Amino acid sequence: MNDILHELEARRQAARLGGGEARIQAQHARGKLTARERIELLLDEGSFEEFDMFVTHRATEFGMERDRPAGDGVVTGWGTVNGRLVYVFSQDFTVFGGSLSETHAQKICKIMDMALRNGAPVVGINDSGGARIQEGVSSLAGYAEVFQRNVLASGVIPQISLIMGPCAGGAVYSPAMTDFILMVKDTSYMFVTGPEVVRTVTNEVVTAEELGGAVTHTRRSSVADAAFENDVETIIEARRLIDFLPLSNRSGVPTRPFFDDPARVEPSLDTLIPDNANTPYDMRELIQKVADEGDLYEIQADFAKNILTGFIRLEGSTVGVVANQPLHLAGCLDIDASRKAARFVRFCDAFEIPILTLVDVPGFLPGTAQEYNGIIKHGAKLLFAYAEATVPKVTVITRKAYGGAYDVMASKHLRGDVNYAWPTAEIAVMGAKGAVEILYRAERGDPEALAQRTRDYEDRFANPFVAAERGFIDEVIQPRSTRRRVARAFAMLRNKKLENPWKKHDNIPL
Ligand code: HXC
Repeated sequence: MNDILHELEARRQAARLGGGEARIQAQHARGKLTARERIELLLDEGSFEEFDMFVTHRATEFGMERDRPAGDGVVTGWGTVNGRLVYVFSQDFTVFGGSLSETHAQKICKIMDMALRNGAPVVGINDSGGARIQEGVSSLAGYAEVFQRNVLASGVIPQISLIMGPCAGGAVYSPAMTDFILMVKDTSYMFVTGPEVVRTVTNEVVTAEELGGAVTHTRRSSVADAAFENDVETIIEARRLIDFLPLSNRSGVPTRPFFDDPARVEPSLDTLIPDNANTPYDMRELIQKVADEGDLYEIQADFAKNILTGFIRLEGSTVGVVANQPLHLAGCLDIDASRKAARFVRFCDAFEIPILTLVDVPGFLPGTAQEYNGIIKHGAKLLFAYAEATVPKVTVITRKAYGGAYDVMASKHLRGDVNYAWPTAEIAVMGAKGAVEILYRAERGDPEALAQRTRDYEDRFANPFVAAERGFIDEVIQPRSTRRRVARAFAMLRNKKLENPWKKHDNIPL
């Protein structure tokens, strides 16, 4: 018996070493943690239960039969994050460069299937040279098996990808179909074709970092949701994100003890809106003053800064926030902002996360660049996402809500449940200046008359009361009491039931 126990321990030791000491040192020398160290950091101490530690590949070409490291380049299993179940796979770059073989894919699929059956998130830690070259089409088949599961799991369990090394070629499409991608600056990259191929085909000279590094994907392409300095910070932030997320689409949002009074009054909000309607202010301040403990987890903070998306808690429960940001492009909706917010709204709706919308939007951004690139279709994504969402929707208009953008931003007409406005709200078809120029074209030569017309228009329309008279705004509230009003509204909506008509699926303007 003792011998067998020793053999088990010896086999485990060998498996834990992955590709061996030298390669582990090389991994560390690059500032990267190993696959196992990453899992240790991600999960609660001692909670990791590993599967398939002794799985080996079955390839025989290129002398592969003589090299069968236990685990086959990926560590898989389950554990907890702050006591809540998650499944995890972590590719081991020290074993064949973390490349994906048939058996490596089977290990990933096993935990994805379990996660789907048991209703808990999957965290995928990607650090891989792509398809295992020695295995050819078997490896491609393995990727497709993973892709298929990514799609079936979408909207059922949260899927989070941490990119902590290379992720290239078709391999990028697995993370691309997950809900959130977090990247590490300088040591991770994602691209469909690498710098060499790009140079050959297009003559563009570009480094891997420029082509597909964390900064590129969080600022330009919006492929990734956040970028961090190193492995440790990335994993700590992943834990923070998981704390906000439901385990599945049927679990309901997580709630946790809270120590922040839901009725907390914030007198400073009464002066948040500047006297001049064209002066910007930081919408983030409002979000933080509404949120429990001021805690906001921003998604895509570095992309389309004219709209803010992220998670907060109210009375300990997760709420998704979408907010126009007047500090950037005056808070206009453009293509990037519409895409960013639409995807976020759909994530919230899929996982039954209530949505708080804070509105200060002068309209859609004008210009040929916007029209030629399809603002009609992209703007429609956000409209579509809000209109189909059945989760509790609470909206607060702080200042401008003009034109189509008023309709889009979770208005009453798109089944907003509770629609509040601050007294500073201006809800109209357009701003006073533009309206007067169209209505009183004949008086164009008379600036004084136009100024009077503008003042008249502002008096009549630049307020929340026209909308409130029609019931499109449920109540005009004091800025200082926003947290209390919003928290009570969501509490009132806790048992909301609303269903869309049966359909196979909708046809959102992709
Ligand atoms: C098998 C691989 C491998 C792969 C790396 N290795 N990639 N083994 N299949 N795809 C092995 C290397 O042989 C080496 O083994 C070890 O991993 C580390 O690789 P190095 O090249 O020494 O590391 P580094 O210099 O850091 O370069 C990393 C790399 C490079 C940029 C990822 O290895 C590389 O370009 N690999 C090939 C990438 C690729 O073309 N993959 C297929 C893409 S197509 P030793 O024994 O020396 O430690 C694809 C399609 C997916 O992925 C399709 C899905 C639909």
